[in-house]
Amino acid sequence: MKNRTLAPTPPMGWNSWNTFYDQINDELIRTTADAMVEQGLLEAGYEYLIVDDCWSMKERDQQGRLVPDPEKFPQGMKAVADYVHSKGLKFGIYSCCGVRTCAGYPGSFEHEFSDAEQFAEWGVDYLKYDNCHRPSTLTTPMLYRRISMALRNSGREILLAACQWGTENVHHWIRSAGAQTFRSTVDIQDSWHSIETIALSQMENQCFNGPECFNDMDMLVVGMYGKGVNPEASMGGCSDEEYQTHFALWAMMNSPLIIGCDIRSMSAKAREILTNRELIAINQDPECRSCCRLPVYGNPDAFVLVKPLENGEYALGFFNFSDTPFNVALNFWDMGLTSASGRGLRFRDCLLHKDLGLQRECFAPQVMPHGCKVYRCTVERL
Ligand code: GLA
Repeated sequence: MKNRTLAPTPPMGWNSWNTFYDQINDELIRTTADAMVEQGLLEAGYEYLIVDDCWSMKERDQQGRLVPDPEKFPQGMKAVADYVHSKGLKFGIYSCCGVRTCAGYPGSFEHEFSDAEQFAEWGVDYLKYDNCHRPSTLTTPMLYRRISMALRNSGREILLAACQWGTENVHHWIRSAGAQTFRSTVDIQDSWHSIETIALSQMENQCFNGPECFNDMDMLVVGMYGKGVNPEASMGGCSDEEYQTHFALWAMMNSPLIIGCDIRSMSAKAREILTNRELIAINQDPECRSCCRLPVYGNPDAFVLVKPLENGEYALGFFNFSDTPFNVALNFWDMGLTSASGRGLRFRDCLLHKDLGLQRECFAPQVMPHGCKVYRCTVERL
């Protein structure tokens, strides 16, 4: 009997794509594994180390098996997986439901069961499964059901991260296909515009998000600052304020938290944002409730996210997407707390790690442009 399922809360980890693109190799993965432990990321909950596209040769071998590129991974993928496991981490790899991956390497189409077995032999714990180059006559529900069945029959527990980009109403069928996460948007870029667009596009889809099948809003760009060799991702970078808001949105919206910067040379601020225990606890709350979005008076680009937590508390995120500072006002009755209840909210600031005391009826913190405030609140008698 299994004593845990694969994704009771949103998966957390690191992925090579955002910063390293096709420039991946054995040494990068090993030194990143070391950094995940040394920088305290594993301890904070980031357990998966995921090698994205471009790890294999351009053709399969004569037995139809995928072949790790000997220049990038001279000892093969099992050796890499063993090293990752020796650090207490889990190992993730990438393939695609089409004949080719997005970068043109062999995909798993019509090789689903044998590839899954091979991944199991190597010790893979997580498969990111992309959506490029598939026969135009086939729809994705069939192809994601296939790989899910193949993984479930591989003899090893392997999490399926469906990278389906939100097409074909993926929200409606992906849970029944068996995937643990589903990408719901186009690829993220290291820019405020991309963060804002992705977050707003998924507000209405929160009802499809929950334990064992999480809405993946794509990898984090926190700490990239426009760096990296990925021409599709590195778009000039963001301010720390914007990275903080990005992380708070992904945390509040139950997205998987998959880091995409070079953690071996991470800035102190990026580390602080990524390891904020109070925000991670909101993302990893065992009840995995979706948040709801409350509009605020006087600014269409400001809003509050409200997420009920397992212990009876509420996580509140105050966001200002506009270009000027704004007092984002929450009237408590908008989240169900009436004046007649005789109760107020006791606020704990999750970014400053400070208790703020009991508030009645309304709370209106000033929020900087593209900024946020995040609180944990208890409902208490006044
Ligand atoms: C797609 C995915 C990305 C990345 C690349 C790799 O664009 O959405 O996350 O995996 O393919 O080629």
